[in-house]
Amino acid sequence: MSFLRVVVDGRVRDIKTVWMSNGVVWLIEQNLLPFEVQFFKAETVEDVARAIETMVVRGAPAIGATAAYGIALAALKREPLDEAAERLRATRPTAYDLFYAIDHVLEEIEKGTPPVKAADDYAARISDMCKRIGENGDEVIRNGDSILTHCNAGALATVDHGTALAPMREAHRNGKKIFVYVDETRPRLQGAKLTAWELSNEGINYAIIVDNAAGRLMQSGEVDVVIVGADRIAANGDVANKIGTYEKALIAKDNSVPFYVAAPTSTIDFSLPEGQSIPIEERSESEVLYIGGRSIAPKGSKARNPAFDVTSKDLITGIITERGIYKPYELRNLQG
Ligand code: MRU
Repeated sequence: MSFLRVVVDGRVRDIKTVWMSNGVVWLIEQNLLPFEVQFFKAETVEDVARAIETMVVRGAPAIGATAAYGIALAALKREPLDEAAERLRATRPTAYDLFYAIDHVLEEIEKGTPPVKAADDYAARISDMCKRIGENGDEVIRNGDSILTHCNAGALATVDHGTALAPMREAHRNGKKIFVYVDETRPRLQGAKLTAWELSNEGINYAIIVDNAAGRLMQSGEVDVVIVGADRIAANGDVANKIGTYEKALIAKDNSVPFYVAAPTSTIDFSLPEGQSIPIEERSESEVLYIGGRSIAPKGSKARNPAFDVTSKDLITGIITERGIYKPYELRNLQG
């Protein structure tokens, strides 16, 4: 059963973020949400790569599953898989699932698994991991809690269920009364546009806050727990996630609010000993200088736009994975 319930043309549909049918990869066009639900059709590896680059699809596990389907597409067209892999790996640098998924699907194909089955199995495995993240993470949410989250780590960012949003869906379905504070997440507003959309489809109460409001709310005791996703986790438990996550973790620590990261083990890069060596994507200045196509700064202004930051393991209460909840220093035991 899919957990991404959306209303399309007046009908409630259960759909996934990415899937493949009849040799075509289909994606929800996330750039158009929450105003329009449209689907993006990728027929070539280049279409898939462009979809990732232009953020038709985004979020670490979803990028990984999409790239897996890109490899399947190349195999179906009898194109060189190493070239397809190289093109797909060059799309976005931070999310580790992208690299993990490509390697995994290439290995499966090498072992003789039919390419589309290899990609479908990968997507199903990620979906199942996220379901279990929800079941495991439910325990950090008490009845009546207010939860703060940053960016979108929901079903749209995975294949289904979500990572940070999975425990919230689970708690809500188990009858707990919860409230979610959604950071708007400048510059691309994944919180205001995507997380709010998912929560409203699910019937979970929420309020969108500007990114700078988290300190005020935590200081006044209005946040019981913070749960965010991850783009890449280093072996020591340092976590790269959407820009601003680090600040939320510092504020949480200062106010004794538990700070959890939810991620499948496919997001852990055991080859990196610590987080400062995680590559951080720097995106276009225009994302900062324009909102909705309108300039918001004096002509000629420069901008910086790092898309992710690194939160030190020391600020993290626990990492919620499909295998259980771990302290950052315990992650090394999961290797292999
Ligand atoms: O730039 P984005 O939208 O791809 O960034 C997404 C995030 O930072 C998410 O929090 C992360 O990928 C976890 S998704 C389950």
